[in-house]
Amino acid sequence: MAFDTDSHSLIQKWQKDARRVRNEVTRFNHRLAETGLFEDEALAKLLDSHPYEELTICTMRPNPPAYERWIAGEARGLDGGQLLDAVKKGRFWISPRHVMTVNPVYAELFRRLMSEYREATGLTIASSDGALILSSPHMGVFYHVDLAETMLWHIRGHKTIHLYPPHEPFVSEASLEAILLKENLTDLPYSPELEAGVMQVDLGPGDAVSWPVHSPHRVCNGEDLNVSISIEYTTPKTVMLNGVYYFNGRVRRMTGVNMSAQRTPALLKPAWAIGAKALKILAPRKVTAETTHERRFDIDFSAKHCIAWRGQAPDWAA
Ligand SMILES: [Fe+2]
Repeated sequence: MAFDTDSHSLIQKWQKDARRVRNEVTRFNHRLAETGLFEDEALAKLLDSHPYEELTICTMRPNPPAYERWIAGEARGLDGGQLLDAVKKGRFWISPRHVMTVNPVYAELFRRLMSEYREATGLTIASSDGALILSSPHMGVFYHVDLAETMLWHIRGHKTIHLYPPHEPFVSEASLEAILLKENLTDLPYSPELEAGVMQVDLGPGDAVSWPVHSPHRVCNGEDLNVSISIEYTTPKTVMLNGVYYFNGRVRRMTGVNMSAQRTPALLKPAWAIGAKALKILAPRKVTAETTHERRFDIDFSAKHCIAWRGQAPDWAA
């Protein structure tokens, strides 16, 4: 690694008080690009070494409207360099799952990054995971909510993230309960009126942004290859909050009693969270990306946008 993480901070500059990240959208700058680990050659090598079964490949309509869903595909027979080339030329995104915690080189960087973040913010972080996402021009992510605290470290290209407040009408307790109970993936109902509450953040190389837990968001890429790390982490407060939502959701479904996280007495919340943990072990996993998204295309340089559809192409891809 050309970048010496022992003598340089990865985080360069906070645009507001780092200790307010739990409560406010907070921007800062970083030096991940200087490690050399996100240049073409390094990324190709990384993709070659990563197990194919642990690679997510998806597409969707360019600049997706907020209600659009993604479509999963395959990229068998391509080496890392070809795959990266296809991301640049095509219209899809790939993510080598768990690379930031499993690959020794990237995992070391991730540990350093989280250590600096923990120190700057003063947060107690119970667990963390980072997803490296390589995405084509004009790709995006639809309106959704993440259950853990989330931030995006952007490294190459340009994108815009649209962030919404973490409460009704942008996200309901019922939606959070259904996601925690694994009845739904993380997508949310969307209507154009929600744009009244949007905060738009433009991200270029070296920019990062974090937002309060349960803030819905969606993303649109610019006209270039995008390389980012999406990081999720949990704090004891988040674990307890999600435990309350989970427990209330289970009780509501079993008894019909209308529970509310907002009205749960503060002193009972730890007990709620413990109960949720016990119930969670017993609950079957109902919905996963694998069961809800069949593979509908193959990456192919001879096809339009490098996507060869299996069967009928969506109307927007024709
Ligand atoms: Fe997200």
